[in-house]
Amino acid sequence: MRESYLAGGRRTTISAERGAIRRLAENGFDLGRRVLVVTDDGVPSAYAESVAGQAKEARLCVIPHGESSKCFAVLENLLAELVRGGFDRHDCVLAVGGGVVGDLAGFAAATYMRGIDFYNVPTTLLAAVDSSVGGKTAIDFMGCKNIVGAFHQPRSVLIDPDVFGTLPDRQWRCGLAEAFKMALTCDRETFEMFEGFDSLDDAKAAVEEVVARAVRVKKAVVEADEREARLRKVLNFGHTLGHAIESAAGGKLLHGECVALGMLPMCATDLRVRVEKVLDRLGLPTRCGFRAEELREALMHDKKSAGEKIDAVLSEEAGTYLLCPLAPEELLGRYRATFEEEL
Ligand SMILES: NC(=O)c1ccc[n+]([C@@H]2O[C@H](COP(=O)([O-])OP(=O)(O)OC[C@H]3O[C@@H](n4cnc5c(N)ncnc54)[C@H](O)[C@@H]3O)[C@@H](O)[C@H]2O)c1
Repeated sequence: MRESYLAGGRRTTISAERGAIRRLAENGFDLGRRVLVVTDDGVPSAYAESVAGQAKEARLCVIPHGESSKCFAVLENLLAELVRGGFDRHDCVLAVGGGVVGDLAGFAAATYMRGIDFYNVPTTLLAAVDSSVGGKTAIDFMGCKNIVGAFHQPRSVLIDPDVFGTLPDRQWRCGLAEAFKMALTCDRETFEMFEGFDSLDDAKAAVEEVVARAVRVKKAVVEADEREARLRKVLNFGHTLGHAIESAAGGKLLHGECVALGMLPMCATDLRVRVEKVLDRLGLPTRCGFRAEELREALMHDKKSAGEKIDAVLSEEAGTYLLCPLAPEELLGRYRATFEEEL
């Protein structure tokens, strides 16, 4: 697959091909300069080493894995590496990792010397289908996710599905949940493709098709609305309740698992039954044991009053969506109807 999109006055190419991590130059990566290669200590080191080996002059930076690395201290370390390495405006940063590495390294590239080139080699399925495309970069601050960041489009994104071979099944499922989110709201044919998967292994076998289709949706959305004035909000489908579930779970559930749960109350009843079947077969959760009341506080986060509405995304029919402001009470009502009536 080779695609490209134009956003923020910059054209980004996205390629996906097995084994392509060893052929970056053929895939639009200009590495004949200083390259800060950023990865984390949960990503098998061979990937970043192979990438660094293709650069004229590479500095390798391995950060601790996990969301807590999206912080000022780790950002400062990356910026210090750039200064120490004598990087100038013509040099670049290259991420080899999941969404954490991509968001952080992308933000370092966005801010160093007011912006230098950024490349991304996503190594989780979630990063391949979602976070590596679209130019959102950020760190977390004072308990708020992605609160400090910038739009900075990568020059090129290279997806090598072979690297997903080392991902734990839970991470596979999280990536599939985000890809399914795009199908559910924007692409009926891909939704039906997901309905044809009998198991996680089935979906894994079709990973190239899943990636190509999700990337096509994501790039079209970003091209039409880079800054999330309206359309890009569709990518938040399942995320409003999903985030609230994530904080209630206190680290026990992964983001993609919470998004899977968060999607269910946002679907019309007939559609919800179909969505549940797909999630079940992939091994994603479809039951949620928290009471709606336990989600209230997280849902109200940064809302000044209970009456204030939240931009919600609903779906009545596969491949379609509806942007609809809902009061927190209405969202909790949908949650209760989906999960509590069966308790
Ligand atoms: N910028 C955006 O538009 C956007 C969109 C969605 C999510 N995000 C962000 O993405 C982050 C989540 O990304 P994620 O789900 O990729 O998590 P992650 O980056 O934390 O990766 C998950 C885990 O998998 C490990 N890993 C990565 N690649 C591996 C591989 N090939 N084999 C074995 N292990 C591997 C990592 O070390 C890590 O421990 C969040 O911070 C979220 O805010 C950003």
